[in-house]
Amino acid sequence: MLETVTAVRYVSPLREGGSLPGLVEADDLGTYVVKFTGAGQGRKVLVAEVLVSGIAQALDIPTPRLAVVDLPSAIARYEADEEVQDLLTASPGHNLGVDFLPGAFGYDGSRPPTAQDAGAVRWLDAYTANVDRTWANPNLLVWHGRTWAIDHGAALWFHHGWPSRPPDVARFVAQPFDASGHVLSPVAEPLAQTHERLAARLDPDVLRDVVAEVPQEWLETTGSLPDHDAVRAAYLEHLVQRLERPDAWLGGAA
Ligand SMILES: Nc1ncnc2c1ncn2[C@@H]1O[C@H](COP(=O)(O)OP(=O)(O)O)[C@@H](O)[C@H]1O
Ligand SMILES: [Mg+2]
Repeated sequence: MLETVTAVRYVSPLREGGSLPGLVEADDLGTYVVKFTGAGQGRKVLVAEVLVSGIAQALDIPTPRLAVVDLPSAIARYEADEEVQDLLTASPGHNLGVDFLPGAFGYDGSRPPTAQDAGAVRWLDAYTANVDRTWANPNLLVWHGRTWAIDHGAALWFHHGWPSRPPDVARFVAQPFDASGHVLSPVAEPLAQTHERLAARLDPDVLRDVVAEVPQEWLETTGSLPDHDAVRAAYLEHLVQRLERPDAWLGGAA
């Protein structure tokens, strides 16, 4: 289970982030980068964050600890910035907190990870269909000498089709991965080599535990996924099938 903490102070927006994440202090004395349920991208991106982070953890890829940040409505009332106030007002209750890594700097290639560590992040992105790790948007932080993966909301895009169409696992399984623009491609070991090391560390049980971590209130039911168990089962099915049939997404990268 993700730990739940309560926000005590909204510190500042992180202006460089497209989704207007904000820095928040919580009652555990922690500081979190909070992604709000009321942001334009909606709850599904928070689900993707939890799932990909859980898979990263299972693979020992450095990624910040996640928590659920409960946002009391009083915090929105005392916020002076109108744009931020609107966002906070639209996000009562449970939001996603990403443990803030103080003093981390954005990845610029000057201190690359080892070929194995780079390979692991690239394999994670290939498996979860994450296109958001390019030089325009590396979404990697360098902290305490290691490369940390952040911002996984763009991965697992298949759920964006669910409101209008039933899940299409085959389509996701067949989705190739284009590694040419990936920020770690220049330094990563060959993808097939990473696959040999990492694929066996995931299995349906590990993935079921990852899916179980997603807070219930972020799971959106639909006509073909009428309850939360059905939504979780659909996520699990996509993840298991893509793991078991890697031909399409391993093929595109050297
Ligand atoms: N855990 C963290 N610790 C320190 N800085 C962070 C952390 N998470 C995000 N940031 C900073 O905030 C920026 C925006 O966060 P990100 O998760 O990439 O959100 P967005 O979806 O808006 O791009 C990042 O580029 C990074 O500079
Ligand atoms: Mg980002």
